Amino acid sequence: MNRQRQESWIVMKLGGTSVSKAATWDNAANAIRAAMKDGHRVLLVQSALAGVTDLLEKLLSDTTGAEREATLAEIERRHRALADEMTIDAGIVRPRLERLQQRALGAALTNEVTPRLRADVLAAGELMASELGCAYLEKTGVSVHWQDARELLRAVPLSTDNPQRHFLNATCDADRDDALRERLGRCGKAVLTQGFIASDAQGRTVLLGRGGSDTSAACLAGKLGAKRLEIWTDVPGMFTANPRDIPAARLLKRLDYDEAQEIAGTGAKVLHPRCIEPARRANIPLVIRYTPDPSVPGTEIGPQGADLGGRVKAVSLRRGIRLVEMSTSGMWQQVGFLADAFNAFKRHGLSIDLVSTSETTVTVSLDPLANSLDAETVNALLDDLGRHCRARLITGCAAISLVGRQMRANLHRLAPVLELFDERRVHLVSQAANDLNFTVVVDEADAARLVRQLHALMILAEGEDEVLGPAWQKLFEAESGSAIENAWWRGARDELLQQAQAGTPRYVYHRKSLDAAAERVRALPVERIFFAMKANNHPDVLRRLYANGLGFECVSPGELARVRALFPGIAKERLLFTPNFAPGSDYAAALDAGVRVTLDNLHALREWPALFRGREILLRVDPGQGAGHHRHVRTAGSHSKFGIPREELDEAARLAANCGAHVIGLHAHAGSGVRDPQLWQDVALKLAEAAEPFPEVRVLDLGGGLGVPERSGDAPLDMRALARLLKEFRAAHPRFELWLEPGRYLVAEAGVLLARVTQLKGKTGAQYVGIDAGMHTLLRPALYGAHHDIVNLSRLDEPAAITANIVGPVCETGDVLGIERRLPPCREGDVMLVANAGAYGRVMSSEYNLRGIPEERVI
Ligand code: LLP
Repeated sequence: MNRQRQESWIVMKLGGTSVSKAATWDNAANAIRAAMKDGHRVLLVQSALAGVTDLLEKLLSDTTGAEREATLAEIERRHRALADEMTIDAGIVRPRLERLQQRALGAALTNEVTPRLRADVLAAGELMASELGCAYLEKTGVSVHWQDARELLRAVPLSTDNPQRHFLNATCDADRDDALRERLGRCGKAVLTQGFIASDAQGRTVLLGRGGSDTSAACLAGKLGAKRLEIWTDVPGMFTANPRDIPAARLLKRLDYDEAQEIAGTGAKVLHPRCIEPARRANIPLVIRYTPDPSVPGTEIGPQGADLGGRVKAVSLRRGIRLVEMSTSGMWQQVGFLADAFNAFKRHGLSIDLVSTSETTVTVSLDPLANSLDAETVNALLDDLGRHCRARLITGCAAISLVGRQMRANLHRLAPVLELFDERRVHLVSQAANDLNFTVVVDEADAARLVRQLHALMILAEGEDEVLGPAWQKLFEAESGSAIENAWWRGARDELLQQAQAGTPRYVYHRKSLDAAAERVRALPVERIFFAMKANNHPDVLRRLYANGLGFECVSPGELARVRALFPGIAKERLLFTPNFAPGSDYAAALDAGVRVTLDNLHALREWPALFRGREILLRVDPGQGAGHHRHVRTAGSHSKFGIPREELDEAARLAANCGAHVIGLHAHAGSGVRDPQLWQDVALKLAEAAEPFPEVRVLDLGGGLGVPERSGDAPLDMRALARLLKEFRAAHPRFELWLEPGRYLVAEAGVLLARVTQLKGKTGAQYVGIDAGMHTLLRPALYGAHHDIVNLSRLDEPAAITANIVGPVCETGDVLGIERRLPPCREGDVMLVANAGAYGRVMSSEYNLRGIPEERVI
C-alpha cells in the first residue's frame, strides 16, 4: 500500500507565460515540494518561454543576415532576462543558441525550410526553457532530473504520407507504459521534461502542433498512469466564454471530460483539445491551476460533471475558420460522392470539423487548430476535389458554439438566440450529433459582438452553484479596476458631480487630457497633424486643439464653416477637405476658399475636370485591406465605399494630368480604433508603392484610426513603437512628407458622459439600472457593440455588489449602454459616468424620441 502511494505520479504542465517569470517558478516549486511531501512523484512538463516559438518561426522566415541576427538576439535576450531574474547563469542555453544560428543560416543558404528542419528549430524553445527551469529548481533546493522528452514520447506512424503533419502535427500514444514508469522512477522524485516535442521511429524530432504541450503532458500522464494531471496556466480555469472578451464570463468549477473536450475543441485556449482524451481513457482527473495564485480554485475535469439537466455551459468562438464548399448537381442520389470527397481530405492530411449537406452542396469547415492550413496543401486539396465537384474555399469565418449537455432539449430556448443572426451572413449551422454543441459559422467581423450578446442571453450573470463559479471580473475586481484607477475623472469627481447638478445627460471634456493627447501625437515623426473633427466638433475642444498647433480634417461644408468661423485667420495649410460621395458644389466651395481637397473617386476627375485645373489635390487610395474595431469602421477593402482601388490609379494619374491638376499627395485611412502600430507603416509602404505613377506626389497622408484602450486591461497603442516604425519608413523613403489625421485618439479619453439613474429593475437572472442617457445620447454601444467602462460616480468608493445591464430610456431593445457590469447597489438619482466618451459621442447623438441633445462642457 505504502509502496503504491510512493509510486503515484502527478504530472504538472507549466505553460509559456507561467515559465517566463521567476515568481511563478517559486509557486511551482512549492507545489512540487508539497506533492513530494505527500509521497507523490512529480513529472514537470514545460513550454518554451512566452513568444519564443513565434520568434523561432520568424527566424526561419527572416531573409537577411541582419534580420536573423536581430531575431536571435531577441531570443537570447528573453532567456537572459529570465536567467537574470532567477539569478542563474544564462550561459547554459548558449550552445543551443549557436546551433540555432547555424541552422538558420543553413536554411537561408539552401533557401528551403523543410518540415523536418522546422521541427528541429522550434524544439529549441522548449529545450532551452527547460534548462533554465531545471537550474532554478536546483537552486531553490528542489532536486530535479532533466529529461529529454524525445526519449519519452514516440510519434504514432501516420496513414498518409504528409511530411507537414508528420513533423509538425504528430500524434503520440498515451498507453500505460510500466517500463517507462519504472525507468523514470529511477531518475528521482521529480523529473523535468519538455512539452511539444517528441521523436519518430527514426529518432528524428517531431512536434505535437502549436499548443501541444498540454497534449505532451496528457500522454505522459497516461503512460505513467498518473494520479492527477495539473495544467498550470495564466487563467484560473475554463470560463463560460473567453474572459478577455467578456469579463462577465463565469468560472466553470466542474466539467466532465465530454464537456471539457467540447469547450476546448470549440475555442477555449486554456486547454488544448487533444489533451483531454488521454486523461479520459486512463480516468485521470485533470485540474487547471492558476500559476500566479495557486489558491484560486480552478476547473476540475473528471469522469462525472454535475448533472443539472440541459443547460448551456459556454459560448465559444473560433476564429480563422475556413470552409470548403463542394457543389455538384450530380450528387443527388449518387453513391460514394461523400466517400470520394472525404478521401481527398484524408489524402492531404486535413481533418474536417463541421459538415452540412444538401442535395447539391456539401460544406465542411477546417479548423486552423487541427490543421496546418498552408496555401500549398489547401490548393492541392481544391485541385483534387475538382475532379469530383466544384470546390470553393471561403475564408474569414468564425465558428460560434453554444456548448452544454442536451442541446436538443434546449432548442426552444434558442429562439431569441436565432433572432440575433438576423441580417448576418450565416455560412453553416450544425447541431452536434453528440448533442453537446450547437454551432454557427458566421463572418469573422460579426463574431465578437454576437458572442457577447449570446453570452448575455444564455449564461446566468449571478448566483454560484456546482458548475458556475465567480465571474472573471469578480475574481479580478481589484486588478481589472486598475486602468480605471488612473483615469483623470477620479481626481475631478467633485467637479463632475457639480456638473451633473446643472443637468444630465451631459458630456464633459477635460482640457488637460486634450493637451496631453495632442502632445503625444505631436511627438510622432510626421510633418502635419489634422484633427478629424468628425470625432468631436465642440468649439472649446477645437480651440484647445488649435492652440496645440493642430490642423483640421473636415468632411463637410458645415465642418469647414465651423473651423473658419472659429479661427478666421487660420492658414490654409492647416485645413484639409476629405468628403465622400459629396456633390461637386462642395468641392468647388472648398477649392474657392483655397482649401486642399482629397478625392476618393474618379468620378470627380472625369465629370468635373474644370474644378481641378491648376489645383494641388490628394487622392485617397484603397489600401486593399481594412482594419478597425468593427466592420462598420473598416474603411478599406472591396466591401467599403472608400478610396480609389489600386487598379484604377494609372487612370487616375491620366485623368488628373488631362485636367491639369497636380496630385501632390496620396491618402489612405484603413479604419478606426486600431492599436497595432504596424498598421501605419504598412499603409505608408502601400502608398509609397502606389505613388509610382505620380511624379509630383510628396505627401503621404496615413489617415487616422489611432485607437485607445476600450476596456480595462486593453494595452494602449504603443506610440513609441509607432514613432519607430514611421522613422524606419522615412529613412527608406525620404522623398515623402507624412501627414496623419487622428480623431478618436485626441479626444476619446478626455470625454465622459454623465447621466442619472432613473429606475431600477430586477428580472429573472438580470438586473437593470436605467439612466437618462441612451442610444440617442451615445450610439456606439448600440451601433458597434462598443464597450465603454461605466461607474457609479456617486458611489465611487463602494465595493461592487451587483451585476447589471445599464439601459437608457429609448423605446428599443438595443438601447443598452453596458451589459453585465459590476456596480455597487445603485439608487435613483445617482450620477453614473460613462468613460471614453469624448470621441464619436455627442456628434452621433440624435433627437430620436425627442429627448433632446445633451449639453457639453469643457473643464
Ligand atoms: N480620416 C478619415 C478619412 C476618416 O474617415 C476618419 C474616420 C478619420 C480620419 C479619423 O479616424 P479616427 O482617428 O477617429 O479613428 N463612429 C466610429 C468611428 C468612425 C470613423 C470614421 N472615419 C466610432 O465611433 O468608432
